[in-house]
Amino acid sequence: MATIFPNLSSAISRVNPFHRPSLYLKIRGFNKLGAQQGPLRPARSILRVSFKSLSAQLSSSNFNPPMAQTQNQLIPDESLVVLGIETSCDDTAAAVVNSNGEILSQVISSQAELLAKYGGVAPKMAEEAHAQAIDQVVQDALDKAKLTEKDLTAVAVTIGPGLSLCLRVGVQKARRIAGAHSLPIVGVHHMEAHTLVARLVERKLQFPFMALLVSGGHNLLILARGLGDYIQLGTTVDDAIGEAYDKTAKWLGLDLRKSGGPAIEKLALEGDAESVKFNVPMKQHKDCNFSYAGLKTQVRLAIEAKNIDAGIPVSSASSEDRKARADIAASFQRVAVLHLEDKCKRAIEWALKIEPSVNHLVVSGGVASNQYVRARLNEVVKKNGLQLVCPPPSLCTDNGVMVAWTGIEHFLVGRFDPPPPAYEPEDAMIDLRPRWPLGEEYAEGKSEARSLKTARVHPSLTSLIQASMKQQV
Ligand code: KG4
Ligand code: ZN
Repeated sequence: MATIFPNLSSAISRVNPFHRPSLYLKIRGFNKLGAQQGPLRPARSILRVSFKSLSAQLSSSNFNPPMAQTQNQLIPDESLVVLGIETSCDDTAAAVVNSNGEILSQVISSQAELLAKYGGVAPKMAEEAHAQAIDQVVQDALDKAKLTEKDLTAVAVTIGPGLSLCLRVGVQKARRIAGAHSLPIVGVHHMEAHTLVARLVERKLQFPFMALLVSGGHNLLILARGLGDYIQLGTTVDDAIGEAYDKTAKWLGLDLRKSGGPAIEKLALEGDAESVKFNVPMKQHKDCNFSYAGLKTQVRLAIEAKNIDAGIPVSSASSEDRKARADIAASFQRVAVLHLEDKCKRAIEWALKIEPSVNHLVVSGGVASNQYVRARLNEVVKKNGLQLVCPPPSLCTDNGVMVAWTGIEHFLVGRFDPPPPAYEPEDAMIDLRPRWPLGEEYAEGKSEARSLKTARVHPSLTSLIQASMKQQV
């Protein structure tokens, strides 16, 4: 297993600041128990934080911030205000969220035009687009929240996984703001953020729960046992479902300006989902892994067989041609989602064996904004006596809210980095984790074929946190 960390302990100390147990820590925005809880007004008090109690919470997998924060006598309220920055892929996003779960602002600058033009994300161009947009996006987020940088408690930013050129733009911006105002900084895992945003939406959602994360680059089934504690039940052996939606849309000549997924979802409503016979992937594999590369090939062959010309936009196609495209869109979507259903059914069995108290399945990530996906998965969870939690579409696709919220969750248990230097050179080494698994693979679900192919770059978030907790004992 390759790692680009010169030594693992430096990575761990970044995750866990408790290596100096008697430190006085300046935390803005916490009110002491019983303190006045007025309107939005970031507190400026310097508070002595009990590291022992925070460490104890860290070791409890059932800790559910921020609803039950009484053990350490800290009552977080709306005065903990965090800016979240997201630039891991093709959207430049920022948001301001408070510890009461109120979204004070949310701003996204999409690179949809670039995507439509180039048919995918070109890293160098995406980096330039982020660099052009980032200052304005962050400023707009602050303005909409009626705050300035000085009013923030912390800055949260996605540090991986994603395209490193793109991640760098967001992380540098976050560090500039945090450095200028002596703010702590929270490095966020993009897929954890897609998961935890469900706890902002559904405040009663407690660990343990399951999550299916479906986006352009990821297809993950996880068991969330606690904050930062995830078991990976399944992942994709090749492409993610969002990639299959995007390519199908491109080959069908659809309008890609809102990305391929929504275009397929809309056209599929006009088609017959049983008309084109596609095989459901990986039926013979008794695991929870996914594969969409083969389905993509099946779709491409079907499109070629029907002589569909992607050069002719669907809006200009004859009604017969349009119907043929709609049939393919609907048939593709049915089978793509059947694959999700199959694997979710098995994952529910596995998860209940590991944690019998699981009763929610979170479905998040861009593809989770699809109504057909939601409806079909709702049937699966209902049959298994679980409940579906699906964030609204604006919080399923990439956004800054999920990053800010995940930052708040980790901040509340003391996991953050100290403020960066006020003046940091542009070329300073910063911690980016382009390939960063969320949790460890469930032993029974390991796929030999994939383990050989997957060269991990970083230790998983969960393994880093577990290692740092062992250091505390
Ligand atoms: O989570 P996300 O915004 O970015 C990544 O982290 O990848 O997901 C983007 C993906 C794209 O592949 C897009 O086509 C897909 O989510 N998507 C959808 C829908 N909306 C977005 N797929 C199917 N149906 C949708 N309505
Ligand atoms: Zn995403």
